[in-house]
Order: sequence, then structure tokens, then C-alpha cells
Amino acid sequence: MNAFIAHLPKAELHVHLEGTLEPELSFALARKNGVALDYDTPEALLAAYNFHDLPSFLSIYYKAMNVLQHEDDFFELTWQYLAKAREQHVIYAEMFFDPQAHTSRGVAFDTVIRGIRRAQERARAELGIDTQLILCFLRDMSAESAMQTLEQALPYKKWIVGVGLDSDEKNNPPVKFAEVFARARREGLRLTMHCDVNQQNTLTHIDQCLDVIGVDRIDHGVNSLEDPLLCKTIRERGLGLTVCPISNRFVVQNLTAPEIQRMLQLGMRATINSDDPAYFRAYLNENLTALHDEGGLSLAEIVQLVKNSFVVAWLPEEKRAAYL
Ligand code: HPA
Ligand code: ZN
Repeated sequence: MNAFIAHLPKAELHVHLEGTLEPELSFALARKNGVALDYDTPEALLAAYNFHDLPSFLSIYYKAMNVLQHEDDFFELTWQYLAKAREQHVIYAEMFFDPQAHTSRGVAFDTVIRGIRRAQERARAELGIDTQLILCFLRDMSAESAMQTLEQALPYKKWIVGVGLDSDEKNNPPVKFAEVFARARREGLRLTMHCDVNQQNTLTHIDQCLDVIGVDRIDHGVNSLEDPLLCKTIRERGLGLTVCPISNRFVVQNLTAPEIQRMLQLGMRATINSDDPAYFRAYLNENLTALHDEGGLSLAEIVQLVKNSFVVAWLPEEKRAAYL
């Protein structure tokens, strides 16, 4: 079964590029850029990954980004992720990036996106892996900052398929960004937002995603199962849910396997993703394998989850048909 999962052609729709920063690359970039790290070795850095909820993860995640400074650094980050994805038989990926986490430290938007784009082009040519980019706004920053970031991104619109919303959900509901997402929609971009498991007011946040923002997908969205009306809307609109089981195990100490099975039973388009694989020490295959080995999901359920990713991917119909 594990070999079957490993060789299945797969898509990934919820992976933060900054969350693919492996400790070895952190050290290489720190040395190159003259950045001091708090630890002496990649192993010691890994041992300090002691997160147990979303805020404790995010503080480690943002601090680690200081080593990313030049276009080549963003190239290398993206290239290493895509090489790893290809090894796992991921043939299509939609990747998040967090420009404000870099522009707020004085790294230009242009530097970030050009490095990423170069790796995407090389991966298409040399690895045969097709990718698209989703710009995530940091919800713990202001709506004005998000709007400025959208404006910075518009000259590069042809390189971006959609926008998302990530970071700390507490006191940062979807409606805070209603204007920014409406503008992104008018620009022809697709919309998604994180509704992480068991966050403050999570059902209200999911409801706002559906009713106020009009999202095309929800990232995580597991708590929707607590409200039949939310489930009905998600099912009727055919919205994808990008669930991240091993991320959930770190953030809420639970793989959420029964919830994923329930979504499938209800006809909701659940997909499986890695979120921040360098931190959670699990790429896509490890997430699917854990669902089978520890969560008790059947082969048919795993195949349905993998298929769903292609069904809800933001692809033109002729490309989707070629994958399915
Ligand atoms: N949740 C919210 N924000 C994030 C995450 C996450 O899992 N990863 C990176 N930014
Ligand atoms: Zn995420």
C-alpha cells in the first residue's frame, strides 16, 4: 500500500513555500548571507521545533525566514521543494507564498516572486512538474497592508492564480479582508482562505468565507462538519477543502482521520496536503500513508482524496481532463 501511494500521480494544493524550508537549507543560506542562527547544527534546530498550537508554530516559522534574502534564495527554496515533490510523484502543485513576511523585512516583492518563478519554469522543463502560485495575505497584519501587497502583485498577475489568507486567526476574521478579496476577484484571481482546525470563532469564519467572501476553496475547514448547513453549502457549491492531517496532529494533536472520512461520505471534496512539510516532517506521501496506516482509511478512500485534488485544482478544463 505504501508503494502504491508513493507511485500514484498526485497533486498538492496546500503547501506554504516558506514551510518547505529544511534545516539544512536554513544553515546553507545563513552561512551564505551572514545570518546568525540560534542553533549550532540543523539537528539542534530540528530539536527546537516544539510547537503545539498555531501561534507557537508561526513564531518559529517567521523567525526562520530571515535567511531568505536574495532572488537565488527563493529560487533554491522552491527548487528543492519541487525536486522533493517530483520524487513523491506529485505532478501538479499550487503553492502558497507569504510576500508580507519578506517585504516587512526589506526584501522586495520582485525579488521574492522572480526567484520562485524561475524555479517553477525550470521544474516544468526539467522535472515535468506543473505548478501555480497563490499569494497569501497575513491576516494578523492590516487590511491596508494586504491591499498594498495586492497592488504590488498586480504587475505580476499572470504569474499568480489566486489569493489566500493565512497566519494567526485569532481576532482576524475573513470580513476584515472583504475589500481586498473583492478587488482580487475583480482582477480575475481565485479566492481561498485558511480556516484552521479549532481556531477562535471558526464556524463564523467558515460562514463568512462562504457568504461574504465567496471563496472558491477553503484551506482546512474541518470544523464545517459541526454545522449541517455549512456542509450543505460546501457540497452544493462543489468547494474543495484542503485538509492537512499531519499539520493537524501538530496543531490540535489529532490526524482528523474520521473527519476526513466523514467529508467523503457527505460528498464534500476533501483533499490531502502537507501544509508546512519541513516543519511537520511529512511531505504528501507521508500524510496519505499516515491516514492509511494510523487513520484506517481504505485504498478507495485514499484514491478518492487524490482524485479530488485534480477535481478542485485551479486548472483550465482541458488540463484537468488530461490529469483525470
Ligand atoms: N496556518 C496558518 N497560517 C500558516 C500556516 C498554517 O498552517 N502555515 C503557514 N502559515
Ligand atoms: Zn496552511
